[in-house]
Amino acid sequence: MSNLDNVVERVAISREELSDKVKELGKKITEDYQGKDLVLICVLRGAIVFFSDLLRQIDLPVTIDTLAASSYGNSSVSSGKVIIEKDISVDIQGKHVLIIEDIIDSGYTMNSVVDMLKSRSPASVKICALLDKPSRRQVDIKGDYVAYTVGDEFVAGYGLDYAQLYRNLPDICVLKESVYR
Ligand code: IMP
Ligand code: MG
Repeated sequence: MSNLDNVVERVAISREELSDKVKELGKKITEDYQGKDLVLICVLRGAIVFFSDLLRQIDLPVTIDTLAASSYGNSSVSSGKVIIEKDISVDIQGKHVLIIEDIIDSGYTMNSVVDMLKSRSPASVKICALLDKPSRRQVDIKGDYVAYTVGDEFVAGYGLDYAQLYRNLPDICVLKESVYR
């Protein structure tokens, strides 16, 4: 029993599945970035849980930073307008950058972030997304590493929020209809 049980309709992706998938991703990233100067960038706030788990599965000398971008506010529809609320502070020139994001939905956020980072002359910029909702895409952008492709259904937990709540749910969940009212 947890205090948040009453908001969960069902578990979409369990903590056990997530743990296995994150290990697999970490192994792949470790192989792909062997011998390269890798900077991992956590997109706040949604990616924090995924980021902290994935980081510990990457067996390379990495550096990390964070950035925050918003286009959503408290609604569940993207506005298309992306604001960088917090920029990174590391110099990425000549470095291999891997952006760690919670979910690619319309694609507006990742599109703006990739453009911004590419303008700083990194060796490469790639995206690692926990979730991908390709059916909702508005701009042509793809994740280079994607843990799960999901349908057009709103989910929360494992870092993802609804109206800034439920990020602390340990699984990725579909919330009860009553939560949105
Ligand atoms: P995009 O700019 O539309 O691709 O939006 C990406 C952002 O929208 C993500 O970083 C999330 O913060 C948010 N988002 C999109 N779909 C969901 C969802 O199902 N649950 C929680 N947040 C979501
Ligand atoms: Mg986000």
